[in-house]
Amino acid sequence: MDWTLLVVFQVLLQPSLSVLFTVEAERTAYNSQFGGDVVMGCRFQPKAAAEDSELRVTWHLISVSPVREVHQYQRGQQPGPGGAGEGPGRARLLAAELRDGWAKLQISSLRINDSGTYQCRVQTKEGADYKTMTLSVTAPYGAVTRSVERAARGDRALLRCQAEGHPRTAVSWRDGRRRALGANTTAVETPQGLFRVSSQIWVNSTEERNYTCGFTADGASATFHIPGDLPAAQKRHDAVIVLLSVGVVLGIVIAALLLYRRRRKGFRTLSKGNLLVEPRVRAGAAAACLQINKENEEERTTFSEDYRKENLRVFLNERYCDFQCAADVEQLHQRLRTEDDRPAELQALIPDAGEAVVLEGPPGSGKTGVAHFLVRSWALGVPRAPPPLLQLRALQLLLYLDCSAAEGDLCQELMARLGLKEHLSTEDELRTMLSRCGETLLLLDGYREGSARFDESLKRLLGERGGCRVLVTTSEDVRLLTEASRTARVLKLHTPIAKY
Ligand SMILES: *[C@@H]1O[C@H](CO)[C@@H](O)[C@H](O)[C@H]1NC(C)=O
Ligand SMILES: *[C@@H]1O[C@H](CO)[C@@H](O)[C@H](O)[C@H]1NC(C)=O
Ligand SMILES: *[C@@H]1O[C@H](CO)[C@@H](O)[C@H](O)[C@H]1NC(C)=O
Ligand SMILES: *[C@@H]1O[C@H](CO)[C@@H](O)[C@H](O)[C@H]1NC(C)=O
Repeated sequence: MDWTLLVVFQVLLQPSLSVLFTVEAERTAYNSQFGGDVVMGCRFQPKAAAEDSELRVTWHLISVSPVREVHQYQRGQQPGPGGAGEGPGRARLLAAELRDGWAKLQISSLRINDSGTYQCRVQTKEGADYKTMTLSVTAPYGAVTRSVERAARGDRALLRCQAEGHPRTAVSWRDGRRRALGANTTAVETPQGLFRVSSQIWVNSTEERNYTCGFTADGASATFHIPGDLPAAQKRHDAVIVLLSVGVVLGIVIAALLLYRRRRKGFRTLSKGNLLVEPRVRAGAAAACLQINKENEEERTTFSEDYRKENLRVFLNERYCDFQCAADVEQLHQRLRTEDDRPAELQALIPDAGEAVVLEGPPGSGKTGVAHFLVRSWALGVPRAPPPLLQLRALQLLLYLDCSAAEGDLCQELMARLGLKEHLSTEDELRTMLSRCGETLLLLDGYREGSARFDESLKRLLGERGGCRVLVTTSEDVRLLTEASRTARVLKLHTPIAKY
């Protein structure tokens, strides 16, 4: 009797139990390597019936703003463009697994910025549910490049290790007796979002000792044997001299033999020739030596330039942290127009390399708010910049100048207002930096025509600008800017709003 009751209950309860639709994450956290693949999974119960046309799986990356749809699958429909954001087909749903109650997402060619929190959502006839999980993409500092360079004078050598990876790492140096040494370490971000970390150290080049640099994040390292690894500058000279001498002597011997065969006064000619050899050998060796010194010099220059730029970047970052901004990305987006009055995207604000952008708007339209907003976004660094402004990451330097009281030469004003004196030795250095480098954005805020010296220097910069990016905000229709520049775009800010 009891048994029958139980069976009856069970039968009655069955449908209501099966209505409880749940999704479980296979794991809460996934770790994968840059360039590799990952498969993240969500299990759903009960499984979807084969004919369930409501089966729908969506994957979102929810840790970015705005939330990004990574993949969407709906039974019976062609899969969407799906691609972890951009680039087609990097993300796909393993459709065969759906039968077994698995919603598995595969992302291939992983990038650093695929890291974040993902949400899988599954919907069937029975209901819908979702779970979240995190993905962290890292890149080991595998291949360490090392270089050794002799100082021009003294018993010193510069050892350098460089490698790329993620996350950012410190570099530790030790000598043969495992004593820790202090070094100079800098890092720049590559377009792939990796950190190119360089570390250098000065050592005594005559002391026999081993040095090892280690990238702390994953233990990649390289060892130097000093003095064995020093560039054989001296030996190279010797080799050059020997080779030249042999060559010259051989040439002379052949010439002499020929002469000897023609006339019979060979010996005198030969000794004359020998006298000629000496100065030529010396001149050749001197030229080779000069060449080598020059190469070393050049290498050192670019390296210290990078180092200085990195210092300057850090300095400016700190300086800009005082900038207040409450600019509302949404509002800004709605008010930004191209010259022919079409809506413009926020990223249009950031000039391409070699381009000038003029942001025009009536007084009070919030141009300065926009300028401060850009400056602050840059200073905050990539992770916290709003997504439309991710291009800011390509910028190594952002030089901001409030033009309202600028009267002197542009570079002079920049040096003085930003306090660059400590970081750049001359205005010329700044000028070169501005004209050469596509990684620098010059932001001139509140420009108006009128000061002859400033206008003249600005015009010159725009004319000869090379790779530099220039963004100018102004309330006037300034022909000077668009005429002086080869490539200039004008954007307008519409309808003044309450100030930021
Ligand atoms: C690091 O670089 C600075 C400036 O170039 C220099 O003064 C300092 O001696 C360097 N430190 C080491 C440990 O090489
Ligand atoms: C992610 O990084 C890649 C470079 O590896 C870049 O091309 C892409 O624009 C980045 N995506 C986002 C949304 O930032
Ligand atoms: C380098 O080491 C040698 C030998 O130990 C020593 O004589 C010399 O003074 C050192 N040079 C420097 C610059 O420390
Ligand atoms: C440097 O390392 C090599 C090979 O590991 C070793 O043979 C040599 O003795 C070391 N030299 C010093 C000065 O420690």
